[in-house]
Amino acid sequence: MGSVGLEMARAKMVGAGVDPVAIETFAHYYRLLEHGETGLIPESSIEPVQIEALADVQVPDDVAAEALRRTAIVKLNGGLGTSMGMDRAKSLLCVRRGLSFLDIIARQVLHLRKKYDAPLPLIFMNSFRTSADTLEALARYEDLAVAGLPLDFLQNKEPKLLAADLTPASFPKDPELEWCPPGHGDVYTAIRGSGVLKQLIDQGFRYVFISNSDNLGAVPAPEVAGWFAQSGAPFAIEAVRRTPSDKKGGHFARRKADGRLVLRETAQTAPGDLEALADLDRHRYTSTNNLWIDLQALAATLDARDGVLGLPMIRNEKTVDPGDSKTPKVIQIESAMGAAIEVFEGATLIEVGRDRFVPVKTTNDLLVLRSDVYEIGSDFVLDMVAADVPYVDLDPHHYKLVGEFDQRFPEGAPSMAKATSLKVDGDWTFGHGVQIVGAVELEAATAQRVPAGEVLSGTDG
Ligand code: UTP
Repeated sequence: MGSVGLEMARAKMVGAGVDPVAIETFAHYYRLLEHGETGLIPESSIEPVQIEALADVQVPDDVAAEALRRTAIVKLNGGLGTSMGMDRAKSLLCVRRGLSFLDIIARQVLHLRKKYDAPLPLIFMNSFRTSADTLEALARYEDLAVAGLPLDFLQNKEPKLLAADLTPASFPKDPELEWCPPGHGDVYTAIRGSGVLKQLIDQGFRYVFISNSDNLGAVPAPEVAGWFAQSGAPFAIEAVRRTPSDKKGGHFARRKADGRLVLRETAQTAPGDLEALADLDRHRYTSTNNLWIDLQALAATLDARDGVLGLPMIRNEKTVDPGDSKTPKVIQIESAMGAAIEVFEGATLIEVGRDRFVPVKTTNDLLVLRSDVYEIGSDFVLDMVAADVPYVDLDPHHYKLVGEFDQRFPEGAPSMAKATSLKVDGDWTFGHGVQIVGAVELEAATAQRVPAGEVLSGTDG
């Protein structure tokens, strides 16, 4: 017996032709939601992890190159960058010199293919909102698609649920807004349901490297592929040391009951355990969302569970029109890709450098990426030329949305290679060739302009 809301949602998904396995997965989470499932992971049930670092691992060059030749790449590209006010794929944004995230990803891969004589298929997981734009932007790379494989597969869609009664939301003004992608945990359902998993196995690929399209540090580096092949593990995640800015975010731990690795997110932490969550000496590692998976192990695990992995559920509260806070409150049921680490016996972690983790979640991150903190070489890999990544904090009233941000940096980002931090309060527009040195703070009650060529030198500059 299902509840009325679940039956309505199910009928809506069937009517829209959603993959039956995705409908079952949704139903699984819906029942958890209905029963008030919190998915809490108590501190007393876990212990800290100890992991090896890539820097300490010896991977012979031939092992690395051979592993790369058997690797396929999947880039998660279904999100809409709503936190930056976008309703399109974030990867369409320009990074520099007219190159978008997509251009840089494509060129990183084309470079590696040539250098290692590796097929390296590049396949995007798009959502119904990101596919057309993404494929159009990639059309200029004529030899990007590998014979017999698509350039993208679509993730599933599910109804947004009214927070009031958990029935599917209706929004006749723009019915597309009644649907949402089910988070990146859907990659497992979608890669299998689309047939891409089988195609990759049939073409002789052994590994898949999956990462976010908003992380340009996520290059399918041969040494990491080689490490994964050598490890013999079915599943691995690249981890980085947590820093003070990651204090409130998730971390890896080992579950005492069965010794499995788990990823504990803030939402899965009881208030009494938040102090332990924030303890950077105890829980040292967080996820880059760069995953390496053995394709055979993935297929076998999914088949054994009829395609439903049963990952921890994430309850995401939004409004049906994310751009209009007066529209009805909805719940979007999501799951996270990295949470699958607990499903695989023998899953492992590897510590990598911050150069493999350059996520762009906010316009603060985008400013750093557009500045001269990184150079982009002929291999299209980001090369950090500054001593440190500066801490950027732009006034959310004027810079949070990409449109507002672009207006205030009409000539591109300032030079920040010598900056330690930049804090902007108020509405400042930056002229061409501005340079930030040291720790700079700007404050103003009325709109201001930083003149072209100005050197803003702060306390320790
Ligand atoms: P995030 O959730 O961090 O970013 O996803 P987002 O969805 O792009 O941005 P917000 O939260 O709406 O502001 C990390 C990566 O996972 C992809 C995103 O495209 C991004 O590359 N993703 C996210 C999917 O592919 N599908 C989803 O359902 C959610």
